[in-house]
Amino acid sequence: MNILVLSKGFIASRLTEYLIREKHTVYNFSREELDYGDKSRFFNFLDKTAIDAVVNCAGFTGKPNVDECEVRKEECFIQNSILPRDIEEVCKIKRVNLIHVSSGCIYTGYDKEYTEDDEPNFGMFDSDSSFYSKTKHAGELNLDTNFTNIIRIRMPIEGTLDSKNLLHKLKGYSKLIDYRNSKTDVTVLCEFIETVIDNFKPGIFNAVHSNSLTTKEVIELSKEYPLVVNPEWEFVDFKDLNTKCGRSNCVLSNDKSKRVFDFDWGDEEYYIRKSFEAMSGILQEEEKQA
Ligand SMILES: NC(=O)c1ccc[n+]([C@@H]2O[C@H](COP(=O)([O-])OP(=O)(O)OC[C@H]3O[C@@H](n4cnc5c(N)ncnc54)[C@H](OP(=O)(O)O)[C@@H]3O)[C@@H](O)[C@H]2O)c1
Repeated sequence: MNILVLSKGFIASRLTEYLIREKHTVYNFSREELDYGDKSRFFNFLDKTAIDAVVNCAGFTGKPNVDECEVRKEECFIQNSILPRDIEEVCKIKRVNLIHVSSGCIYTGYDKEYTEDDEPNFGMFDSDSSFYSKTKHAGELNLDTNFTNIIRIRMPIEGTLDSKNLLHKLKGYSKLIDYRNSKTDVTVLCEFIETVIDNFKPGIFNAVHSNSLTTKEVIELSKEYPLVVNPEWEFVDFKDLNTKCGRSNCVLSNDKSKRVFDFDWGDEEYYIRKSFEAMSGILQEEEKQA
């Protein structure tokens, strides 16, 4: 298949590497090479190139975290709320399947495992939601779920020391908060995206593992991998972190993606252990080199 992966960010880089390994032809550009917000340039590209599927991994996530979205509101709104609609408009004209990587951070609370049919309670219409969550929800509302496949991921995990890997972030924090949250192993996400490309169906799909763990449970597991442990870890209340905005804490249901795509997400614990093991290997190697 010929696949256009939008952006050279974290998820896009992993997906590009994965799809190339799986023998797909992948097109992947930086914003300087092809700004997808420029509809005529994007149209011209799709006009000249035979593309089977577009995967939109572009967006504004905030560095080092979503607090930055409270400050850089215009960029955040344009990249998360407007850009997906512009991309969809061009894909519709060119009749190219579109997969949009979104976020499950538009829910919070533990009343239930949130399904794709639940109205977001930490999005556009909620006064306590973060600006990031509002823009991700607005981005989804701007899309046509009869045309686009929207994949909602949650906290990404993998066996690397990348600053976007939740498990590496945890190692770097001294203060932790204890919530149960769904997570998404990035390699399994790539496998799911490939499944969606191969068997395309529009609609919203949660992309998370079963049986999510609390932060305390993740920290307990980490003790079996001493190199990933931070001896300064202490649990605090969220209010002690002095953040600029609230955070989404929730568990999503993966039943729909299991049912529609026959995709087995597996248990979160398995992927956390696998990631800790790989991170330990890298850290051991770093220690040897030092
Ligand atoms: N990482 C997470 O924790 C997480 C969790 C849940 C959901 N998500 C969602 O997953 C998606 C990917 O996240 P990520 O972590 O991979 O983000 P990322 O590393 O910040 O990458 C996003 C990329 O989008 C690019 N971009 C923005 N507007 C563009 C445009 N008009 N044309 C071309 N490129 C453009 C940015 O380019 P520049 O560098 O030039 O600005 C940036 O490289 C986002 O939609 C995010 O909301 C992420």
